[in-house]
Amino acid sequence: MIFKALKTVAIISVLSLSNLSAIAHDGVEMGSEMSARHYVMKSVASAASVAVPMLKGGEFDKNAATLAAASMAAAGNAFPYLFTNEDAGSEGTKASANIWSDKAGFDSISLQMANAGHDAYVAAKAGDEEGFKAAFGQAMKTCRACHSKYREK
Ligand code: HEC
Repeated sequence: MIFKALKTVAIISVLSLSNLSAIAHDGVEMGSEMSARHYVMKSVASAASVAVPMLKGGEFDKNAATLAAASMAAAGNAFPYLFTNEDAGSEGTKASANIWSDKAGFDSISLQMANAGHDAYVAAKAGDEEGFKAAFGQAMKTCRACHSKYREK
């Protein structure tokens, strides 16, 4: 079960990379940025599905926890650069216009997720289960904080 989820995280990371190279080649090509951000969002959802059971008292798996936390840190650092085209209201995106009217606020929540993900990564790598849980829990709070303001229902 956990291996299946980890495989999803790994596959999605590879897909995201191939999408990112599409962005790099095409310049600011809207479809690529939109699909890259969807892949990266799905990678954090996979990371959450691996880590949340541990936060709820499930068995701590150091490798899985470290990988999940690394995904969160990477995604949080990537978000500001996956929303460079003002495409709110376009087909296929739930990105809110608030992202571009308040990019500093959006980037700040992204950074909070990156930092909490990084703290969780350092703790997991050191085998510090409680530190991992606390930091990953903080990273999870940023999902709702961001979606409530910057994602359309
Ligand atoms: C800084 C803001 C921000 C943070 C933090 C954030 N999200 Fe998102 N998320 C968004 C936005 C904006 C969208 C809509 C993107 C779009 O449709 O183009 C989205 C979309 C999604 C989607 C739908 C992807 C798709 O394919 O349509 C999932 C799943 C998701 N987020 C999960 C998460 C999880 C889980 C977390 C926390 C671990 C998280 N997000 C943290 C802003 C954020």
